[in-house]
Amino acid sequence: MALRNIRTIGDSVLNKPAREVKKVDKKLLTLIEDMLETMYAANGVGLAAPQVGILKRLVVIDVSEEGNDPIILINPEIIETDGEQVGDEGCLSVPGKVGVVKRPNYAKVKAYNENMEEFTIEGTELLARALCHEIDHLEGVLYVDKVIGELMDTESTEEVD
Ligand code: NI
Repeated sequence: MALRNIRTIGDSVLNKPAREVKKVDKKLLTLIEDMLETMYAANGVGLAAPQVGILKRLVVIDVSEEGNDPIILINPEIIETDGEQVGDEGCLSVPGKVGVVKRPNYAKVKAYNENMEEFTIEGTELLARALCHEIDHLEGVLYVDKVIGELMDTESTEEVD
């Protein structure tokens, strides 16, 4: 396993739509392992392949307390949403910043696992937010385009908290 370099805002790879994964080969499995390691090392709750420069429809998420319950989503697709939540959001590709974003409070996603078996996952609150945020990355969309009001420095919000 190896840490990958996280691309940051301004890098054009973050604004491009990612391509469908056709098959899971050794290279993709290595990418999944590296993305998990990179996400955990950066204390993130989610990472999409374009954030490490790979334009493939692949996302990893872990919103668990201990950070040992990863969700791997290949070719994910939001098939249902409900409700709304308005709250702070950040992104490993936009370091030091946070902004308020409105998201569905519930999301149901269809995806494929590492064996290319289809499954669905449902999430509310933080998981719903993470699912929407990461799948946006696959369309080349960053949360900064959805921020209500202004993008703030992480430090300034810490003072408010
Ligand atoms: Ni992000």
